[in-house]
Amino acid sequence: MGNNNITPNSARILAMAGKGGTGKTTLSALLVRYLVENSLVPVLCVDADANANLNELLGLEVEKTLGEIRDAMKTETPPGMTKNEYMEMQINQAIIETKGFDLLVMGQPEGPGCYCMANSILAQVMEGLAKSYRYMLVDNEAGMEHLSRLNLRDIDTLFVISDPSSRGVLTAARIADLTKALQVSVRQKVLIVNRVPAQIPEALSSQIEEAVAKTDLTFGGYVPASSQLFEYEVQQRPLLDLPASTDAVKAAFEIFSRFIPKED
Ligand SMILES: Nc1ncnc2c1ncn2[C@@H]1O[C@H](COP(=O)(O)OP(=O)(O)O)[C@@H](O)[C@H]1O
Ligand SMILES: [Mg+2]
Repeated sequence: MGNNNITPNSARILAMAGKGGTGKTTLSALLVRYLVENSLVPVLCVDADANANLNELLGLEVEKTLGEIRDAMKTETPPGMTKNEYMEMQINQAIIETKGFDLLVMGQPEGPGCYCMANSILAQVMEGLAKSYRYMLVDNEAGMEHLSRLNLRDIDTLFVISDPSSRGVLTAARIADLTKALQVSVRQKVLIVNRVPAQIPEALSSQIEEAVAKTDLTFGGYVPASSQLFEYEVQQRPLLDLPASTDAVKAAFEIFSRFIPKED
């Protein structure tokens, strides 16, 4: 098998990137829904943002985070098992299981000091976990360090989310280039411009064309600003309950279907 991590029985990794507030977590929730509705399961969602909130959009309560487990690993003595076995057990307990998908929350370790060992065990456990899922979806924070920390070096699809602004699109292009320095391989990078108005200014579409021309980004499409989505957000309702007819849901699903085929 050599160095190639992609084996037929290992999850395809999907990841979100983009600056804060562009809609990564929102689109993660919609992507989970897309995967589940199309039976592209089992899915493991990983909330890799320090200010974890994907669980809220999915309507789930979090009890334990990977950060807390890594903290505990520094002081707790595993009862009659190796640290590896102990951490694996803890991580399995931290996975929130629902009917269609599972969720694991990274959080942040609180304590000072070195987490090298905990991180290397974590990377091993993630590799093992990947074998039990068809898709693994990582909701990132702005940077992408988590991908390498989790040892996710073979990304199938990286969705780069931008707001509808010229600087937003430039930032998206910069983020697309970041993966090179991180030594992760990405099969396809897809730009999604989110929260767009009904009329898209011509200047914006030419900026998108430019960004796509000078990077390895593919333009996925636009997702409209949605008053229904906004309504659900302020009422703290899970996005899994948004009507399928919602414009933003339809647009997101149409984009996903072009990059994550329904039958494979
Ligand atoms: N298409 C959209 N229409 C309306 N509101 C949106 C849309 N996409 C995202 N939002 C809102 O924008 C805010 C930021 O989105 P979020 O997904 O949390 O961004 P990120 O995870 O990139 O920081 C949230 O309040 C969310 O409800
Ligand atoms: Mg977020």
